[in-house]
Parts: sequence; structure tokens; C-alpha cells
Amino acid sequence: MSKRIPVIAGNWKMYKSVAETAEFFEKFRPLVGEATHCEIVIAPPFPALAAAVEAARGSRIRVGAQNLHWEKEGAFTGEVSGPMLAAAGCTHVIIGHSERRQYFGETDQTVNRRIGAALEAGLAPIVCVGERLEEREGGRTEAVLIQQFDGGLGGLTPEQFSAILVAYEPVWAIGTGRTATPEIAAEAHRLIRDCAARRFGATAAENLRILYGGSVKPDNIRGLMARPEIDGALVGGASLDPRSMASIVHF
Ligand code: PGA
Repeated sequence: MSKRIPVIAGNWKMYKSVAETAEFFEKFRPLVGEATHCEIVIAPPFPALAAAVEAARGSRIRVGAQNLHWEKEGAFTGEVSGPMLAAAGCTHVIIGHSERRQYFGETDQTVNRRIGAALEAGLAPIVCVGERLEEREGGRTEAVLIQQFDGGLGGLTPEQFSAILVAYEPVWAIGTGRTATPEIAAEAHRLIRDCAARRFGATAAENLRILYGGSVKPDNIRGLMARPEIDGALVGGASLDPRSMASIVHF
């Protein structure tokens, strides 16, 4: 059995200014200072990244971005590249979040390109997959997850694959207060790990960390983390409050 170190990551989405970021870290740092049982990642919006890196300096908290472009630089107005994020002090980047798939035309192909760029810049990609409500209700969860896995991750080299994290985020559970039960999440995680085993072999699959995301809160994190299939959480709304995020870190 491999020992997968849990990861608790906060996805702030389009919330928090520079000042609010500094305020968060001032309260959050002392609350998680002693936590060594898991990795902690906070992903603020781009303008607050530098403030977050500064505020996290000297702690075990890592800072991630929420997206990146696949080119290193160029005429791509509004985009930000991997080397820019790495130079700003980021260590992680969320890729393929369902909100990006839904509102910004993200596809498995663009997810794949962004993963390559992140790895080249030395960033750890947190790659999001997950089915929509109508897909689950139509019995297509498995097919959707396989398609997202194969399309987004299937073409990676084994070495690239060993550096990524996957987040299973059922779209119907995001921001809805309707968390997947630990059983539903665990079943999806097993399926994703099976995909990994098929493509990259048993050891690679065993080492892959799969986070659950979708209405994770202080009062449901324990049940989720009790499942051996679940290696951490990608937390949206509940990551905005330092106390609630700290209580999730101390699951
Ligand atoms: P939520 O968001 O925790 O607010 O449901 C999770 C996410 O979108 O990553």
C-alpha cells in the first residue's frame, strides 16, 4: 500500500481582493501552523497570488492558480502562462474546473494542453473531472469520467502522470450544498483509479491522489476522508473563511 499524503486545497474562484487575501492568511496561518498530516493549497484569483505567496512564506501553505494558458508568452490578451505563475511563487494550478468547461469553452483537449504547460513550468496540476446532473441521472457517469480521463490525461507520459493530482467534482454538488455521499464519491474515485491503472499501471494508479470537491464543509469532511479512496478535498465556498477552512484542514 502506498501512503498517499492528503491534500486540502481551497479554490477561491472569483473572490477576495489583495487586502482580503492578506486578512485571510493572518487568521488562517496560526490555525494550521501545526498541521503536518496534509498538504495545504490555497488558490486565489490572479491579482492576489503575489499577496498570498508573501503571506504564506515560511509556512507549509502552498499557493495555486485557477487556470493557465498553454503557451509561455505571446499575443493572448487576458491569459497567464505557467512560467509567469511559477515565477510568482505558485506551486499548483487547477485545470479543467467545471466552471471553465461550462462558461469558458474548456475541453478535454485544452485541458490536456494546459496540463503539459503546467508540468513544463514545474507546477503541480490539479485536474478536475466530474459529471453533470443529467449525465448522472442518465446513467452516463462512468462514460463521462472515462472520456474526461482519457481525453485530458490519457496522452501523458508516465512521468508526467506521476506529477498530477485529480479532483473528482460532480457538477451537481458544486456550490449547491448537495455533497456527494462518501459512498458515491468513493465509487467515482475507484473508477478514476481504474482508468489510471489501465493507462499507467497499478503502481501509478496506487500513487495517484484523487481529491473530492463539491460542497465540502467542516461537517462533512470527516465522513469523506474516512474513505480510503478519497485523498483530500478541493474546497470552494468553505475555503473563503479562515476558520472553516482550518477546520477542514484538521479533518
Ligand atoms: P464548492 O466548490 O465547495 O463551493 O461546492 C467546489 C469547487 O468548485 O471546487
